[in-house]
Amino acid sequence: MPAHPGISARVGWCRSILTTMGCEADQATSSVVFRDVTKSFGDLEVLGGVTLDVRRGEVLALLGPSGGGKSTLLRLVNGLEIRDGGSLTVLDTDIPLGEPAARPADPFWTDLRRRIGFVFQAFHLYPHKTALENIALAPVEVNGQSVDAARERARTLLERVDLANKADAYPRHLSGGQQQRVAIARALAMDPEILLFDEPTSALDPEMSAEVIEVLRDLAARHDRTLMVVTHEYGFAREAADRAAFLEDGCILEVGPARQVLEAPEHPRAKAFFQRVL
Ligand SMILES: Nc1ncnc2c1ncn2[C@@H]1O[C@H](COP(=O)(O)OP(=O)(O)OP(=O)(O)O)[C@@H](O)[C@H]1O
Ligand SMILES: [Mg+2]
Repeated sequence: MPAHPGISARVGWCRSILTTMGCEADQATSSVVFRDVTKSFGDLEVLGGVTLDVRRGEVLALLGPSGGGKSTLLRLVNGLEIRDGGSLTVLDTDIPLGEPAARPADPFWTDLRRRIGFVFQAFHLYPHKTALENIALAPVEVNGQSVDAARERARTLLERVDLANKADAYPRHLSGGQQQRVAIARALAMDPEILLFDEPTSALDPEMSAEVIEVLRDLAARHDRTLMVVTHEYGFAREAADRAAFLEDGCILEVGPARQVLEAPEHPRAKAFFQRVL
């Protein structure tokens, strides 16, 4: 069944319904450059030709209804998915088309993924390692840091996410909000140039979300790395993001300053969506 009835040009259908104004920046200043990116899962066409530049050091919020393709777009950036068409450049590296199955041990992705952190809705901490060990692991095993240096940095990061007193706690003894803050500290331990967040607070109750949002706000305010954040936390997006992109049915229908997109969207579908959720 067509996911986009009434739109006849199946591949690249975004072109017929959006202008790319505001999507493109000077590529030299971009961390991620999507050009006409398409993606299907079997018969299901999920991205219809996305063009978007994510600028170095900016905080970009990805917003829109469920199933619109936000996670897929994010997952393309660190190779958890591979696009079908169009071009994608991440940290000045052209991403080839190819079989996902061939990728896990591929040095191309190992090298690139060192520079990209991913924080998921489900925290994915190692259950048999303490908070500190979770954070110090990759810097030692992937980056070859000394154990002492990695642990010292892990302590600093735990302080930064306000969990200095939980260094020796195992994930099962931490609340969801605390686990997510450890997951963020773990991502920061690799000092990534890009940090991807996929609904980092969706599994949390409001109080725990607030703790995580505080950490995200602090990160966003530093502007020392590129942040792409898929979120339904519209207050955070409005106040802490530089720009917001509204994604529906696999197309970016609007992108602009976050406050403008959230408070005065121009695209009728963005307008309708934000009226409904805000
Ligand atoms: N691995 C997969 N196999 C098949 N279909 C998939 C796969 N991943 C995503 N999809 C489908 O692609 C579409 C877009 O999914 P995606 O997860 O990117 O949306 P989303 O905007 O992140 O939604 P949500 O807000 O619910 O997380 C959905 O219809 C989804 O069911
Ligand atoms: Mg999603």
